[in-house]
Amino acid sequence: MKIVLIGFMGSGKSSTGAALAEILGVPVIDTDSLALHKSGYPSIKDIFDKEGEAFFRSLEEEVARDLQGEEGIIATGGGVVVREATMRELAKDATVVFLDLPFSAIEKRLEGDTSRPLFRDVVAARRLYEGRLPLYERYASLVVSIGKPGACSLALECTPRDVALSILDGLKIRVK
Ligand code: S3P
Repeated sequence: MKIVLIGFMGSGKSSTGAALAEILGVPVIDTDSLALHKSGYPSIKDIFDKEGEAFFRSLEEEVARDLQGEEGIIATGGGVVVREATMRELAKDATVVFLDLPFSAIEKRLEGDTSRPLFRDVVAARRLYEGRLPLYERYASLVVSIGKPGACSLALECTPRDVALSILDGLKIRVK
């Protein structure tokens, strides 16, 4: 089994991935951590500042290729969808799940965050969010809309476990 979680920054891909992995008893893999490790830089912010975004996207593409044949939950960075080749690799033999959260909730969750190079300015981040929505929708075989009927009712109150259970429900995977 391979489940790939996609969605904007702050949509909870890592925390949901960890909850899902725990419920299913499978490993969780984080593409940001693997890309960071490959880069040799201390932080993603440093990669963007010193090498630029295109370099980071190439690292993500390499990571996606390395993950061929891996099983478990793959939590991605919010921008994996911008490079088609990366998504092609990630989606091979995988179920791609989009964690769909309104921008207002993301903005609240990421208030004061300084670690994300593409969330330095809220206006620009909102534009990025709007531009990426069609990409997340295009690649996903399941969309979990957090804060709307079907998942938990208030985006900011959804726990990672709530979201993980919604995903399992959507995928018709029964757990004991
Ligand atoms: C990015 C999202 C980040 C990280 C990098 C770029 C993006 O991951 O990959 O800062 O382009 O949306 P998270 O989605 O885990 O914040």
